[in-house]
Amino acid sequence: MDGQSPASRAAQLIDYWTPLLIRMSVDAGIIEAFGREERSPLDVAAATSTNPDAVARVVRALASRGVFAEAGDGLFRLTVVGRCFLEGERGGIVGLATFKGYEIHAWAEAPHTLRTGGPAFPEHFGQGFWEWLVDHPSFAAHFNSTMRRRTSSLLDVALPLMDWPDEGTVVDIGGGNGVLMERLLERRAGSRGVIFDLPHVVEGPRDGWARVSSPTGSSSSGVTSSRRCLQATTSM
Ligand SMILES: C[S@@+](CC[C@H](N)C(=O)[O-])C[C@H]1O[C@@H](n2cnc3c(N)ncnc32)[C@H](O)[C@@H]1O
Repeated sequence: MDGQSPASRAAQLIDYWTPLLIRMSVDAGIIEAFGREERSPLDVAAATSTNPDAVARVVRALASRGVFAEAGDGLFRLTVVGRCFLEGERGGIVGLATFKGYEIHAWAEAPHTLRTGGPAFPEHFGQGFWEWLVDHPSFAAHFNSTMRRRTSSLLDVALPLMDWPDEGTVVDIGGGNGVLMERLLERRAGSRGVIFDLPHVVEGPRDGWARVSSPTGSSSSGVTSSRRCLQATTSM
């Protein structure tokens, strides 16, 4: 435990501010503004239109958790751990580190899940997560782009682990906005891909993809292409 007392380590396990500070620093561009440089929090605040005093306190707090290290003269740099939250960092996990405010409310209801096994989300929001996203397009966009970033950061590791066919059709059920399929088809020119997801996820213009009707008849209407198509449904 790196020389820490059990109580000190235990205190870190129950703090909620570390993940929230990391998430807001990623979303505000603070982590990216540091990049691999030694920088002053004040300069980073100016570059990210954030409050200098608040950024200085966030950086000091995250330095206490090993995300930043002091570099002297008021400068800080990201540590090896902190660089895992940089875009494009090999093996990085920035896709997991963005803030989605609704999660806080759902987690606050998690004792319901512990008692009953049922989902916590409807306890606060009155409807299931996927239905709620349909009614909240800006959150849906954030969720879908977060999924894309998260999945992108996992695919370098995950794609080679599977024995993908050299040709034929691969169907990604709940495939979101298709990042896995895009990466797969780059490697398998002879394959055809189908993304199967909810209408609001697959709607909108998508270069190189065609749309087909869902089996339920509830999705956007049918255009197909020889190599790529995209399918939507309302029920799995
Ligand atoms: C956790 S996300 C994963 C997205 C994608 N596979 C990825 O890894 O980035 C789950 C996906 O399932 C989709 N989904 C949920 N309920 C669905 C349903 N009833 N029919 C089709 N897709 C559904 C969601 O819209 C979402 O895109």
